[in-house]
Amino acid sequence: MTVHEKLAIYLEQNTNQLISGQTLAEQCNVSRQSISKAIKGLIEKGYAIDIVRNKGYYLKEGYLPLSASSINHYLNHEHQIYVYSEVTSTNDVAKQLPLEHLGCVVANKQTKGRGRLGRVFYSPENTGLYFSIYLKVESTTNTQLITAAMAVAVKRVIKEVFDIDLQIKWVNDLFYHGKKVAGILTETTFDLESQSINHVIVGIGLNLSTDIFPDELGTIAGSILNSNVVYSRNRLTASLIESIDKVYKTMSDGHFIKEYEDALMSLNKRVYYQNQEWIVRGIDEYCCLILERDGKRIIINSGEIVLIGD
Ligand code: BTN
Repeated sequence: MTVHEKLAIYLEQNTNQLISGQTLAEQCNVSRQSISKAIKGLIEKGYAIDIVRNKGYYLKEGYLPLSASSINHYLNHEHQIYVYSEVTSTNDVAKQLPLEHLGCVVANKQTKGRGRLGRVFYSPENTGLYFSIYLKVESTTNTQLITAAMAVAVKRVIKEVFDIDLQIKWVNDLFYHGKKVAGILTETTFDLESQSINHVIVGIGLNLSTDIFPDELGTIAGSILNSNVVYSRNRLTASLIESIDKVYKTMSDGHFIKEYEDALMSLNKRVYYQNQEWIVRGIDEYCCLILERDGKRIIINSGEIVLIGD
């Protein structure tokens, strides 16, 4: 690990505290001059570090730059982490990479963030988390369950880290206070030689503290946090990777399905599906939606439902 990386991690773990150059030098095992040089480098990279003359350094938390070494520092096992300041779409970047078992592409901003059904996912810099995890698909993996399992993984982390209960809009959106705050786009890569899906790329976008949205999203989109809440996107990314890995490995036991159903914002509510009114009765073991109308039930595995209200 470089001095920059060690220093960034130490400061990130001690945000909002004045730390002397001497302490930092001891922590990083280098001279005070090296610390002073490394601090300048971090400021250039966007770290909001205040230099207090003759006293030390002070990192204000908030929009901490994303860093692969910092994300890896918070993980139980090292993974391939690629961090970019700007990409078109992290899903597109992930598709170009030599993929292993588990890895992650994270970006501070996306210029062509995509959602389901060709929709745009608004991805401004600093205030959100946009990442794609690639996971190896085995012959036993039920790919149909992945998006729902990932929604549960995200929901668990947001509860654990911020004590916030997100609701799920079948199949891939997460809502808070009636507004969409996160979305999931699951795509696959196909291996021509074996004629099978070899990786799944799960793209997840979270509006963390975005407070201004384009007009067309104004009434639909929201954020998880107030813009003045402090958080580390590196630590959050690591928690999400751990949670995703755990759910993915145990997906076939189906334990996450009840959690998903309980979080459905449309459960037992009236919805429109293909211009008809239905009541949502839950999901089945494949995470397909169960709809009821005049005593008759149907099961749908794709499409859009529109919540009518209570
Ligand atoms: C949706 O709204 O339908 C899903 C949105 C998924 C957005 C994420 S952000 C990271 C990844 N890259 C993309 O282009 N899309 C996903």
